[in-house]
Amino acid sequence: MGEVEFAMQPETSASPRPARHAVADPGELGALRDELARDGRRMVFTNGCFDLLHVGHVRYLEQARALGDALVVAINGDASVRSLKGPSRPVQPEQERAEILAALGCVDHVVVFGSERVTELIRRIRPQVYAKGGDYTPETLHPEERSALDECGCQINILPLVEGRSTSSTLARLESGDPSAVRSGRRPRLGILGSGRGSNFAALVGAIAGGALEAEIALVLSDREGAGILDHARRLGLPARHVPAGDHPLRFDAAGNKEYADRLRAAGVDLVVLAGFMRVLKGPMLEAFPGRIINIHPSLLPAYKGLEAWRQALEDGASETGCSVHLVNAEVDGGEVLAQARVPVLPDDTAETLHARIQEQEHRLLPETLSQYLRRLPDLPPIGR
Ligand code: GAR
Repeated sequence: MGEVEFAMQPETSASPRPARHAVADPGELGALRDELARDGRRMVFTNGCFDLLHVGHVRYLEQARALGDALVVAINGDASVRSLKGPSRPVQPEQERAEILAALGCVDHVVVFGSERVTELIRRIRPQVYAKGGDYTPETLHPEERSALDECGCQINILPLVEGRSTSSTLARLESGDPSAVRSGRRPRLGILGSGRGSNFAALVGAIAGGALEAEIALVLSDREGAGILDHARRLGLPARHVPAGDHPLRFDAAGNKEYADRLRAAGVDLVVLAGFMRVLKGPMLEAFPGRIINIHPSLLPAYKGLEAWRQALEDGASETGCSVHLVNAEVDGGEVLAQARVPVLPDDTAETLHARIQEQEHRLLPETLSQYLRRLPDLPPIGR
């Protein structure tokens, strides 16, 4: 037998990183958090799918790490990515996504969670700092996750996203057949109308920031003075206005209808999106934007038109409901349906839990459908190459 030769690694001044398992145990992370706390140090926690890693992810994670002394990244398991992002995702299985993230210098631990929400993990680990991307605000975080964070006194930090970088935009470029394509032309201008919290508006903002939706937000209008959608838009520096629309909570008066149309036209809006807008549009709005008004509705239309459609489905004993993106015409919730997503009604669902699951689908379906619809419109400026 010949002599065995050993190739010696040259000595370097940098100390090697200790070998780590890609996937950490939540119990150990809880213990690590306590150990850090004893030394006055802080654990930072963030979560996401991290499907195809890009520079936006890396910059985000580096900033998150800088908020404390150890960074834990919780990634959605494969089944939960599929349910959030659609059947063609994830592109890479959870074990590989974990391994890639664990190799980054700014990431200390990766943990996989199987459910759609990260609530249980937050309760077990009790991090001192929570980081989330700029497509959210503390108000638009999922209510369950928000209360778990509040319970453990966690500080919430919203970090800016890198414009044009997201897994969805990378996939869209690959599908276009020219991955290096630089998009040109005027981006369609959106006018967003909302009466509520604005989580669908936040999803549109996130899709634009991530490059999955080629558009810009020209104006945000609300019929409710204190609506969350207005606060969120103002924080982002977008033009946002409360415009009264009459005394009836669900109907426009004639003057309000015209004023909305005039303001949207003056802002050069190409397409109007109703993102939780509760009034029925009439003549002047429909005439000003024919085929250019899109609504998100929380049911599988034509079922359960009108108010609180999720509650209607629940009270009706339906086994399944969902959400629809449709064009708006003179009939309430009656225009052409462009896309739908199904959501099962679970035996222990309350109106709140069912609506929350429908909204998760809304946040994916609305930007996706809008992006496809914009490509279909004939006389908008060309999108793409
Ligand atoms: C959404 O669930 C949307 O589908 C619904 O209002 C909610 C607004 O939430 N819209 C309707 O019921 C319209 N008929 P958001 O303010 O968090 O986006």
